[in-house]
Amino acid sequence: MADMTNANMETNTGTARTDGNPARGDAEQDTPGTRPAEQDAGPDPAGLTVAVLGTGIMGFAMARNLARAGFAVRAWNRTRAKAEPLAADGVEIADTPAAAVADADAVLTAFIDGPATLAAMREAAMGLRAGTVWTQTGTIGPEALTELAGLAQAHGLRLVDAPVLGSKGPAESGQLLVLAAGARDARPVADRVFDAIGRKTLWLDEDASAGAGSRLKLVVNNWVLTLINGAAETVSLAEGLGVDPRDFLEAVAGGPLDPGYLRIKAEAILTGDYTPQFALSGALKDATLIADAAARAGVRLDLAPAGAARLRRAEEQGHGAEDTVASYFASFPK
Ligand SMILES: NC(=O)c1ccc[n+]([C@@H]2O[C@H](COP(=O)([O-])OP(=O)(O)OC[C@H]3O[C@@H](n4cnc5c(N)ncnc54)[C@H](OP(=O)(O)O)[C@@H]3O)[C@@H](O)[C@H]2O)c1
Repeated sequence: MADMTNANMETNTGTARTDGNPARGDAEQDTPGTRPAEQDAGPDPAGLTVAVLGTGIMGFAMARNLARAGFAVRAWNRTRAKAEPLAADGVEIADTPAAAVADADAVLTAFIDGPATLAAMREAAMGLRAGTVWTQTGTIGPEALTELAGLAQAHGLRLVDAPVLGSKGPAESGQLLVLAAGARDARPVADRVFDAIGRKTLWLDEDASAGAGSRLKLVVNNWVLTLINGAAETVSLAEGLGVDPRDFLEAVAGGPLDPGYLRIKAEAILTGDYTPQFALSGALKDATLIADAAARAGVRLDLAPAGAARLRRAEEQGHGAEDTVASYFASFPK
């Protein structure tokens, strides 16, 4: 059984940290764009200051790992109380975004969506200095990058679009996969940041505004949403038909119909553990981003809109703050 703390719609894509060295035998070692760490060792984290804006589930874990890796870290969160426990790791809690980013070498944003990211960075504007590397790690969709890139250009920031794969567990253990796109001159600093939060970085493009990372993130999350809604719906169908869901799990055990994600999510339902690894309302946000992107691309999706309707129904039933696996409740009247 996989680690239950990793159970989440935002995918745990693996477990082993890698430095991208082909000699290490990592399953994803040959992915084009994977950065061999030896090629471009950047500055020492001890000499760098990173501002983390947005300390929700993901931002909190990333800020702590940055501090533990030796960066000087300043954090700001709209709800200050959520950031305050980071002080135990030496993180300085700032009252405003501008205070957090002052003289920072890098800014890492981890907001729920594009508008929140843009609003915070606009608030930070007076503290930003030209040349600062801005790594945006939220799942914000490619469309939002146009305005973010405009703001970056206006302030001379080096924007790296860097959505992450992996949920609360991988974020806490520094095992995220970073889907990065940004200019080469941003990479020495960005790579040091990514080394502290992730197990591997895929550099996909040199133009952050083209949204290569954000587009790949939506593709992955469409698959994840398909799996999670399928698991939730199938467990509820079993119950409705008088079938023990564990008999269903036993029937598919060990074969190609038995992905680890099914095990994790079905177990969460069967044990009633809806602790948010990624909140259902956030998954609904992603489903909306996926639908918008597909419509712009002229791609007809059928499962995705149905899945979004399911998440919306569960949210209306009061499950928005629970883990996405609470999609299960959408199968039943409130
Ligand atoms: N959790 C995961 O498994 C996971 C994995 C990969 C990627 N992601 C993505 O990473 C991002 C953060 O996810 P999360 O799970 O950390 O979400 P979260 O726990 O809900 O945190 C969201 C963050 O955004 C802030 N925020 C929301 N609306 C805001 C606004 N209008 N103005 C200022 N701040 C605002 C929140 O501040 P408050 O604390 O004040 O509400 C909080 O810091 C999302 O884009 C998500 O899709 C999540």
